[in-house]
Amino acid sequence: MARAPRPSQGGTLRTPPLPPRQGGGSVGLHRFAVATAVATLFLIFAGGLVTSTESGLSVPDWPLSYGRLMPPMVGGVFYEHGHRMVATTVGVLTILLAVWLSRREPRAWVRRVGYGALAAVVAQGVLGGLTVIFLLPTAVSVAHACLAQTFFSLIVTVAVVTSPAWRAAADPNRSPVVRIGAATVAMIFLQLLVGAVMRHTKAGLAIPDFPLALGRIVPPMTSFPVAVAFAHRLGALGVAGCVAGCVIQAFASRRPGLKKTALLLAALVALQITLGAFTVLSRKVVALTTAHVVTGALLLGMALTFTLASLTEKKPARARKEGANLTRRAIA
Ligand code: HEM
Repeated sequence: MARAPRPSQGGTLRTPPLPPRQGGGSVGLHRFAVATAVATLFLIFAGGLVTSTESGLSVPDWPLSYGRLMPPMVGGVFYEHGHRMVATTVGVLTILLAVWLSRREPRAWVRRVGYGALAAVVAQGVLGGLTVIFLLPTAVSVAHACLAQTFFSLIVTVAVVTSPAWRAAADPNRSPVVRIGAATVAMIFLQLLVGAVMRHTKAGLAIPDFPLALGRIVPPMTSFPVAVAFAHRLGALGVAGCVAGCVIQAFASRRPGLKKTALLLAALVALQITLGAFTVLSRKVVALTTAHVVTGALLLGMALTFTLASLTEKKPARARKEGANLTRRAIA
């Protein structure tokens, strides 16, 4: 396989011209990145199941499981060892993605995102091992949960920016849509962090009612669990507000692709808040709680996709018509 040239364009979003044989390769690379993103979402689901079923310490050793590569898959071992197997698969996919990027991706910054993902997946494996060896310390479990979302974000970035449409239309201009998109990504990440702290300090049911909180709009902040659970509810309002901003800006931009992504984002927030409410009201039924964790990751990925999509060139119908008129006049 011929090695791609490496122009020194790490800081720009513009795609350098590709030699002819790279066109086909980049479509394959994009598809592989999308497949890795889907596998990562499944990994977050498998990891969510480990916590939801309280199977975190069902396998006491690491990196082997009961001293073997394949222990009997019974009880909590099914969830814990299953999670390790899915994680190994995602690790292998990430190595292949990084190698593929190093050989075929001409943009230095995209290659760096791929290498960052590889570093994150290795660190994630080590953190996972430390959680087991040190018997689930809260800080390590929270770091493991947040690094999972960071890793997913890096893979989603590679998947979006290697798509032929993005490569053709990337535009480094900062529009209001980009700013609200970036604020939404940051707000969702903060919300995931608070969610992880709540989950791993077992504060999920500190406020057992919804939509009221301990029978009031603002509960008495008598303990850390109540404060963190209330912060998570306020965070949901913040996320919903940011997403409303994305919808308004997307419609103002009159770009059909952005409008669709913003509406999808709005639907996901509505679903996520409903799942959060039922997580509380059902006293944390495993399926609902795990669906809430996965939808949180999906929401982050969608907000990131929206932000990256907003970096592509604005080509409304009028601009296209004006362009065509100019061309006609130039020919005449
Ligand atoms: C857009 C808004 C929301 C997002 C993005 C979000 C995201 C998350 C995430 C990712 C987690 C798990 C963190 C982890 O372990 O890694 C979590 C936990 C949790 N969330 Fe949300 N959430 C949102 C809104 C809500 C709402 C409105 C409620 C309802 C009160 C809620 C209730 C919960 C509960 C109870 C947990 C802990 C579950 C447990 O202890 O196992 N969430 N959230």
